[in-house]
Amino acid sequence: MSSLKLVTLVLSLYVYVYPSLAASFTPVDSYLIACGSSQNVTYLGQTYVPDSHQSSMISLDNQKKSNTVNSTSSVPLPVHQSARVFTTTTSYKFDIKKQGRHWVRLYFYPIPDHNLTSASLSVVTENFVLLNNYSFKSYNGSSHLFREYSINVTSDSLLLNFVPSNNSIAFINAIEVVSIPDELIPNEVTSVFPSTPINDISNHAFETVYRLNMGGPKLTPQNDTLGRIWENDKKYLHVNGSATSVSINPSMIKYTERVTPEIAPNWVYATAQTMGDANVADLDFNITWVLPVDPDFTYFIRAHFCDIMSPSLNTLVFNFYINAENAYLDLDLSSLTGNLDVPFYKDFVCNSSNDQSTLTVSVGPDKVAEDANAVLNGLEILKVSNEARSLDGFVSVDNLVVSGFKKNKQSGVIIAAVIGGFVVILLLGLCYCCLVAKRSKTGQRKPSWLPLPLYGNSLTVTKMSTASPKSGTASCISLASCNLGRNFTFQEIMDATNKFDENLLLGVGGFGRVYKGTMEDGTSVAVKRGNPRSEQGLAEFRTEIEMLSKLRHRHLVSLIGYCDERSEMILVYEYMANGPLRSHLYGTDLPPLSWKQRLEICIGAARGLHYLHTGAAQSIIHRDVKTTNILLDENFVAKVADFGLSKAGPSLDQTHVSTAVKGSFGYLDPEYFRRQQLTEKSDVYSFGVVLMEVICTRPALNPVLPRDQVNIAEWAMMWQKKGMLDQIMDGNLVGKVNSASLKKFGETAEKCLADYGVDRPSMGDVLWNLEYALQLEETSSALMEPDENSTNHIQVIPLTPTEPFENSTSMVDGANSYTDEDATSAVFSQLVNPRGR
Ligand SMILES: *[C@@H]1O[C@H](CO)[C@@H](O)[C@H](O)[C@H]1NC(C)=O
Ligand SMILES: *[C@@H]1O[C@H](CO)[C@@H](O)[C@H](O)[C@H]1NC(C)=O
Ligand SMILES: *[C@@H]1O[C@H](CO)[C@@H](O)[C@H](O)[C@H]1NC(C)=O
Repeated sequence: MSSLKLVTLVLSLYVYVYPSLAASFTPVDSYLIACGSSQNVTYLGQTYVPDSHQSSMISLDNQKKSNTVNSTSSVPLPVHQSARVFTTTTSYKFDIKKQGRHWVRLYFYPIPDHNLTSASLSVVTENFVLLNNYSFKSYNGSSHLFREYSINVTSDSLLLNFVPSNNSIAFINAIEVVSIPDELIPNEVTSVFPSTPINDISNHAFETVYRLNMGGPKLTPQNDTLGRIWENDKKYLHVNGSATSVSINPSMIKYTERVTPEIAPNWVYATAQTMGDANVADLDFNITWVLPVDPDFTYFIRAHFCDIMSPSLNTLVFNFYINAENAYLDLDLSSLTGNLDVPFYKDFVCNSSNDQSTLTVSVGPDKVAEDANAVLNGLEILKVSNEARSLDGFVSVDNLVVSGFKKNKQSGVIIAAVIGGFVVILLLGLCYCCLVAKRSKTGQRKPSWLPLPLYGNSLTVTKMSTASPKSGTASCISLASCNLGRNFTFQEIMDATNKFDENLLLGVGGFGRVYKGTMEDGTSVAVKRGNPRSEQGLAEFRTEIEMLSKLRHRHLVSLIGYCDERSEMILVYEYMANGPLRSHLYGTDLPPLSWKQRLEICIGAARGLHYLHTGAAQSIIHRDVKTTNILLDENFVAKVADFGLSKAGPSLDQTHVSTAVKGSFGYLDPEYFRRQQLTEKSDVYSFGVVLMEVICTRPALNPVLPRDQVNIAEWAMMWQKKGMLDQIMDGNLVGKVNSASLKKFGETAEKCLADYGVDRPSMGDVLWNLEYALQLEETSSALMEPDENSTNHIQVIPLTPTEPFENSTSMVDGANSYTDEDATSAVFSQLVNPRGR
């Protein structure tokens, strides 16, 4: 402790010596452009020059094909007075004198009387998608749009391409491209659970989502050496009275070498939110800000602190949390900065909190502190570009048609783009025809949670599932035959479920509730009723319906119909009489399953997953494989359920899909967790956990057990590696299992749980090995001892995964989507019959 004090002393001396008046930053590149304007525009003391003055520094291709519009009435900001309107992809090219990070700020305002609200805006640089298909029509609220991005420019020019999507127009009112000091963004940051560590920060683009001046006024570009805007935080406070703002004279802020005015203006550090009632007896008290975010992205979070209220040094120690997880504990500003009024900041990366489209940030007192208080002065939240190098959805630059300055590209590319464009137009036309045809049949129809194109019952268009829900029709890419089943009326659902009788409740999840229902004809169904107000639920329902409308398989729970009346989100499924697999393993008094039953159930589930991975036109990753999502019908046939988190798998030229980590703890693929790269092998890992659960009959995670037993994957693997899985298996199985069958099963589970995806078998291989384990069990009397050679022999039989599912590939053509399950089973049994070899 005393050495710490010494450090504090040394630091404080240093701080005094260092001059707090750092020279103001002058950007090397600084372009302020008033698009479509004929004269200079002054806004907040800065001059925006017209883009028609083509200098050697900035140029605009296709200028002749664009036109300019001007406002005759008053506009929200001076830079909104004029706009340039594009009917074809058009690029601005900025000469860059100093490579490195630059602000790219875009101002959009659909000037009235020019039909600009019909515009569909996409903006891409050579490497990043900044805006994808933004439309003012669906945007209610403020009618202008301002976006700030930070991009590391690594060549001597920056291209900004404006792409009119959907055959529409695009426009822009004003652009800023300005250098940022290199020190502003570090190369490494602390990651906070849940998140993926980002090692190459400098290769990512950022979009400013929030920049807050806690407890202080709004700061405009004039108050900030880097032209940033800082908003007041009040409207994001979770509990209004939980915070009290404090402030000091900004000139008292003592900048350091590490924290300069470029990090944040002194106005940010001179105001703060502190605890509403300092010294509250309740030490669990904390101040929380709730910030809605797009859950599909990772965020860079910078928190600014400055102790402006303590009477003396070393009285303030507090904790900083992100998503209620510890981000920085025992934050002791005195020992970090050596003095009061000295600014400090810390960076983190994090994803949105589990299952919620929000980030929460909290500060709370530390129990060891003398005075219970906590402080936050400023907060910046920047969206980090994803694997598709996009900040808006999952469509990459290459997938948005870009021409313009990329003149050096071969003509082949252009031809391909033209053909591609033609195909897109054709498809869009088709979508449109479908919709119009359907509309005229059904008349006006109010908006629904159903994915729009699914209205049709014959030929319909589905959205590519990897695209962001926002990107809408631009991603209309695949035609599929939809099999949504019956459209139930709400009354029918009410009758079937006895008005959602709680006694008929089968389960409750994040999405809503599932009831048992009985249709008029006496058939039992499961009715899943979502909460239409939950954004998350909406997305999951859409995913589920999109997935299920494309898939039919004996081992996937099938959809009978839906109800979208009165904005209800209701899906009706076949009823699975024996419920989830988990309830037959532990936690209930249901009779234990025999070994053979367990094998058959695992085989059924493996078949369902194998079909998901290989059977459909585009492979599908379930993402939430667990024993509660494997349901059993009256004959104990296993079916995989709950596609709410599913994602279309990687396409041929990719090896993975990048996405925010979702799924259930205990089943999460550690590799997916580390790298956020989703492959089919993530499902294989989760399935390995299921296999271990089936044999050990205990939950995947059981926190009350000793440390080494908490996680079934670790614990069972330890025993399996010693070849002693039988020591921890379900007592009901002891003496009733063929040892060779058990051995095969254990080996299969072990392979599924390999640390790296590449070392795990495919679902087809898993299926196979389980079939073999079943054969060993069934023929245990005939096969005396398992022969290692025969095992190996079995494994090398080439199996083309798509072969047995040939029928289903025709789904692309919109043909029937049923799989011939019997044929499939026949192929497998033939292949795995050890006696046949
Ligand atoms: C417009 O602004 C630029 C840059 O500030 C300046 O050089 C130019 O003279 C101005 N033009 C007019 C017409 O004021
Ligand atoms: C920009 O990217 C280059 C190349 O990846 C890297 O060397 C440089 O440090 C980056 N600059 C910043 C400010 O991140
Ligand atoms: C806030 O207070 C609760 C108790 O009320 C405590 O458990 C939690 O750790 C604190 N922090 C956050 C971020 O919720």
